[in-house]
Amino acid sequence: MGKSWSQSAWIPNPPITEKNIVDQSGKYRELTMGQVFIVTGGNAGVGLQLAKILYSANARIYLAGRSERRVTEAIEHICCAFPDSKGNLSWLPLDLADLRSIKRAAEQFLNQEKRLDVLWNNAGVMFPSGAIKSQQVSPFGHDIQMSTNVLGPYLLTSLLYQILKQTAETAPLNSVRVCWASSLLSELSPQGGVDMDDSGSPILSNTRYTNYFVSKAANNLIAFEFGKRCKSANVLSVAFNPGNLNTELTRHLMVPYLESVERLLQGLVLWPPRYGAYTELYAGLSPDLTIEQHSGAYIWPWGRIGHLRPDIEDSLRSKIQGGSEKAAKLWAWCDQETVNFT
Ligand SMILES: NC(=O)c1ccc[n+]([C@@H]2O[C@H](COP(=O)([O-])OP(=O)(O)OC[C@H]3O[C@@H](n4cnc5c(N)ncnc54)[C@H](OP(=O)(O)O)[C@@H]3O)[C@@H](O)[C@H]2O)c1
Repeated sequence: MGKSWSQSAWIPNPPITEKNIVDQSGKYRELTMGQVFIVTGGNAGVGLQLAKILYSANARIYLAGRSERRVTEAIEHICCAFPDSKGNLSWLPLDLADLRSIKRAAEQFLNQEKRLDVLWNNAGVMFPSGAIKSQQVSPFGHDIQMSTNVLGPYLLTSLLYQILKQTAETAPLNSVRVCWASSLLSELSPQGGVDMDDSGSPILSNTRYTNYFVSKAANNLIAFEFGKRCKSANVLSVAFNPGNLNTELTRHLMVPYLESVERLLQGLVLWPPRYGAYTELYAGLSPDLTIEQHSGAYIWPWGRIGHLRPDIEDSLRSKIQGGSEKAAKLWAWCDQETVNFT
């Protein structure tokens, strides 16, 4: 309970905001080339706010998203807000629910760029359209929340791993990162975060609520497991709970004729989305975070080191270390489900 409160209210001030973000054009880090960032879901909610702040600091950013119209509108909006920025914004077509689109996105990025400094796996779906009680599936038969929130980001990160590794060879230590979106609602996931059958496949529910909770806990497990694997390459992997924010995440939960009232109430109890961007800025840019100490860490709002529910923590450890090894099993499952799309 205390843990929920400390992530929802009485939250310490954000360490990094639009007011103190350092220049991201490369000058600050004395790089010959500016840093390059990818923000998935950068056209709405928290991702849009993050892209705005990064662009205001002259960053080169790819907004990875599925709707050309929505991403183009977001880019226009950001450019209008910061006409003097020396940054760059581009659309990277990506539909995380369609595993085929991910390799295309990675290839397009690799054709255009020589480095990738931070990948924010921010995009996510909470309740896709349709009935609460019915599970929706992706074109390849995966639960849509698991596909969008877990398999898609896993595959995108795997396909970009080489460029992250290569960037880390010359970039300042601890600066090359992958950040994974979890949520306070991961606290409502089953024992260990993800229920698994004997073959190591996640056991999902036929209610969309539970599958969202599972998918968010899964991001903590994957962030940890990826962190273990990329540590020697000097790539830092962290998960974050952005905070409870007034975004479009609940759009398909709204009752059409009550939508304006619901949005009003949401605005009263939830934080403005830019606060979520502060959490993500900390995860992606804070000099406080090091590979040695924070690989696989969980960042809480608006930028501090948090901790996981004890049984989810157990999932990170191997059987020899007394844990349930679920993170490693989930990693193996992601690998198996995405192998045909690499
Ligand atoms: N809002 C909160 O209180 C809260 C709390 C905890 C965690 N989070 C997490 O924070 C992240 C951002 O959420 P948000 O609140 O900013 O939600 P949002 O306003 O709904 O934005 C979600 C973004 O993800 C994109 N997206 C969804 N499905 C996608 C797909 N298949 N392929 C590519 N992009 C896709 C959306 O694109 P479209 O515009 O095309 O739909 C949108 O840009 C999510 O991972 C969410 O789970 C949010």
